[in-house]
Amino acid sequence: MRASFLLTVTVATFSRLACAVNSQAYNWKNVRIGGGGGFIPGIVFNEKQQGLAYARTDIGGAYRLNADHSWKPLLDSVDSDNWNHWGIDALATDPVDPNRLYLAVGMYTNSWDPNNGAILISNDYGDTFTSSPLPFKVGGNMAGRGMGERIAVDPHSNNILYYGARSGNGLYKSVNFGATWTKVTNFPSAGTFIPDPNDVYEYNNIIIGFSWITFDSTTGTNGSPTPRIFVGVANKGESNIFVSENAGATWTAVAGQDTTFLPHKGVLSPSENTLYVTYSDGAGPYDGTAGAVWKYHIPTSTWTNITPVSGGDLYFGFGGLAVDLQVPGTIMVAALNSWWPDGQIFRSTDSGATWSPLWSWNGYPNLQKHYSYDNSGAPWTGPNYPNTNPGTLQIGWMMEALVIDPFNSNHWLYGTGATMYGGFDLKKWDTIHNVTLEVLADGIEETSVRGLISPPTGANLLSGVADCNGFVHDNLDTPRPASYSNPTWMTSQDLDYAGNQPMNIVRVGAGDEETKQVAISSNSGASWSIHYGAPDGVHGGKVALSANADTILWRTEGNGVMVSQYQSTFTAVASLPSDAAIASDKKANAIFYGASGSTFYISTNSGQTFTSQGTLGSSTTARDVLVNPGVTGDVWVSTDAGLFHSTNSGATFTSISGVAEAWSIGFGAPASTGGYPALFAAADIQGKGYFRSDDAGVNWVKINDAAHGFGVISANVLTGDPRIYGRVYLGTNGRGIFYGDATGTQPPNTATATPTSSIPPITSNPPVTSNPPVTSNPPITSNPPVTSNPPPVTSSAPPSTPTVGPWGQCGGQGYTGPTVCAAGSTCTVNNPWYSQCLPN
Ligand SMILES: *[C@@H]1O[C@H](CO)[C@@H](O)[C@H](O)[C@H]1NC(C)=O
Repeated sequence: MRASFLLTVTVATFSRLACAVNSQAYNWKNVRIGGGGGFIPGIVFNEKQQGLAYARTDIGGAYRLNADHSWKPLLDSVDSDNWNHWGIDALATDPVDPNRLYLAVGMYTNSWDPNNGAILISNDYGDTFTSSPLPFKVGGNMAGRGMGERIAVDPHSNNILYYGARSGNGLYKSVNFGATWTKVTNFPSAGTFIPDPNDVYEYNNIIIGFSWITFDSTTGTNGSPTPRIFVGVANKGESNIFVSENAGATWTAVAGQDTTFLPHKGVLSPSENTLYVTYSDGAGPYDGTAGAVWKYHIPTSTWTNITPVSGGDLYFGFGGLAVDLQVPGTIMVAALNSWWPDGQIFRSTDSGATWSPLWSWNGYPNLQKHYSYDNSGAPWTGPNYPNTNPGTLQIGWMMEALVIDPFNSNHWLYGTGATMYGGFDLKKWDTIHNVTLEVLADGIEETSVRGLISPPTGANLLSGVADCNGFVHDNLDTPRPASYSNPTWMTSQDLDYAGNQPMNIVRVGAGDEETKQVAISSNSGASWSIHYGAPDGVHGGKVALSANADTILWRTEGNGVMVSQYQSTFTAVASLPSDAAIASDKKANAIFYGASGSTFYISTNSGQTFTSQGTLGSSTTARDVLVNPGVTGDVWVSTDAGLFHSTNSGATFTSISGVAEAWSIGFGAPASTGGYPALFAAADIQGKGYFRSDDAGVNWVKINDAAHGFGVISANVLTGDPRIYGRVYLGTNGRGIFYGDATGTQPPNTATATPTSSIPPITSNPPVTSNPPVTSNPPITSNPPVTSNPPPVTSSAPPSTPTVGPWGQCGGQGYTGPTVCAAGSTCTVNNPWYSQCLPN
């Protein structure tokens, strides 16, 4: 399509911009939500250099610990062409040369990610990387991503590394510091466990593969390959822990192992000559209803079951596993998912003979919490986290990463599905049995951002954020106290403000709940009320609020376009296609716009009916409709064929020269008072990037640089700030929100100054690949409806569905079992992934 578009545009038009687009320096900073906002599957301390630690995320790259215990992002250079490098499936820090860091990167092993993975290699603690491509995909956001670490550096010969792949691709070895890799052909298993062979989303029907690699550093001598290497593989019902005694020449299954569950972690306690292993019945990170903890005493080849709980208390698998390298016999394990009443962590100071928990029952339903809780690093999370059962899950869930600082027995960290906790008084667990849990994720911003608006009054920025609801950003630099309330949704998908009454905001949710998913605010998002005219369970998409705030146009996800005026019941708008981009005029209350394919639409009767207007060249996908906030009928449309501008309400369009493709577009403050608003675009203008034009698309400057790639361009959202010239807000899929301010000198205009000669049109653009899904969670399956009461049980016939007993699971994303609770208990939503039958 782009090729034919190029043919219709004169070569002269293109060559005016054919010289490199000028860049302007921008200062980019995260808008601080604070405290992560997503799953942290791995945390790794370096055992040689004090204070050196890294964290990996599933959709937002890797981070390095700073001296002040904040975190520095290491992969902000990742751009749209290598977006899958934000999925980190494994991380190794070199125990010999601590400056060396290795990351196994790639997002999905299915079709959602078109690219193979790579090992990223750094010699400077992650400040810069080189890439060693792998011949297969890597699954940083796949099931089992919290197992690990599946990459390891030989502690005696650090040129040697092993990496255990997914999907049955096998074990790989490098002997040159990761530069090249060869398959270990004599390894006995590539993994057999598949979480769900019948998964229609083709997400859980793939072999997990390797789970961890652990060198026995007590064997061998410096300079020679370490003889003994343990390898964990995601197998169930067959051997899943293998060992080599001869530096990988031969491998055998470790004798005497229990093969009931999947080994999630295998951590060596060198001083005890012991390998500790946590197991869960699922690959994680959301599941786990049974599991075990075992230890293997290497000199005597003795396995001992040291599972902390049994019987009815064992309703979870085990994930995180920490060994205190300074205190032999002190170990900790985390319940992978104890969805109710809270996450759980156990600590032993006698090598697992006895354990003490982070909380215990103090006469049901009261908890005795052996901790004090400090979420000041991210007040919006913890008890305020927008799950549907607020106040629970303080300790967390999806707890695969659990570490004790090898240089400081008091310092510990663990990752959850939403943040990172830890503390600095861990030894108090063994004395007064009371420690301080703190959010210690400062600097980690790993949210997937869905919508951003910057109204001319009120807070400068409001966001819609996946899994964290969304926020009023009245301060860009301090952690958010709370997400939107009342209604609180897991995900707010989109927002809009009324042009003439900009304190009025509309917000739509992304449908994790079977509730009404439209909310309105008249005070710039400080408080909200539910729109009772919204149908239950309809969700997502795009929303537009009329200039005087009385009409809401909603392009839903999967339920077509709907409109509501004066808070009446939403009605279908048949005259606008169900995939249309929509916008409201910011001045004329009755006018809305839409665009779909190559057709532009207008409504002059408050969205009741739309008529088609001008065409958008050879576009096949219209993405954003943007309306000049000061001029009725001055509209822009971004499409797969470029950027289009109309000054007559869409009757005719001009295609903007030099823009091959555009995604999110937004207006900011004009360069001079009364001037045309600054136009920001995520676009392909001689390459994908982020651009600003101060003259309605004639001249452009590139505003992002090599250090700020912002990941996949098609998922990102942006808007300028109508009050601050040059300011842009950019929401990413995995690295939170950034704001950018111009710092460099404005470059000279080039569009009219460049000679119109000789440079051929751009022909080498890569094909448009299907966009990756924009969430850190697996695809949203339709949740079974959650009834607040069990259905009546009739005596005449047995219930046709099996019932779930007290405490059993009765719902959640991906759950396919029975959803009806036995009489006397009620199915209660803990979070989108887990509902449970709680006794009435
Ligand atoms: C631990 O300390 C906190 C904060 O002082 C307190 O609220 C909690 O009750 C203590 N837990 C126990 C079991 O004493």
